[in-house]
Amino acid sequence: MAIALTLNGEATEIDASPDMPLLWAIRDVQRLTGTKFGCGIASCGACTVHVNGEAVRSCQTYLGDVEGASVTTIEGLAGPVAEAVQGAWKDLDVVQCGYCQSGQIMQAIGLLTENPRPSDADIDDVMSGNVCRCATYVRIRAAIHEAAKRMEA
Ligand code: FES
Ligand code: FES
Repeated sequence: MAIALTLNGEATEIDASPDMPLLWAIRDVQRLTGTKFGCGIASCGACTVHVNGEAVRSCQTYLGDVEGASVTTIEGLAGPVAEAVQGAWKDLDVVQCGYCQSGQIMQAIGLLTENPRPSDADIDDVMSGNVCRCATYVRIRAAIHEAAKRMEA
């Protein structure tokens, strides 16, 4: 059964079961491997994508849940918030091994889209579900503040 959705701005039909986790459909069917598998139980944030602009865990979202929705992965990012975040991430050298980082970036864009001037507490609140085994948390927080500044410029 094919599920129709918009994936990274393109009308897409994915021929898979509606019970398939969205993460599987993105990585194994669509071959978009920027979104990572970490825990599979919505506890690490590595698999974060946007569904209708909102950051969600794709390991615990099912293909049937996104029928007709707009799904964006790290490969499809565009627009001023994404540019500010990606630029700040690069300039502040946030990444260490990189494994968690597409999820971190997707979550950070979700945060800044809702709240363009977050406090440290706001950042910690929204980002606390995104685990980084390299402990890049201080740089992530600094990059989110930097991205917020760039969005105002
Ligand atoms: S793999 Fe989805 S939250 Fe960890
Ligand atoms: S940069 Fe290595 S897990 Fe986050």
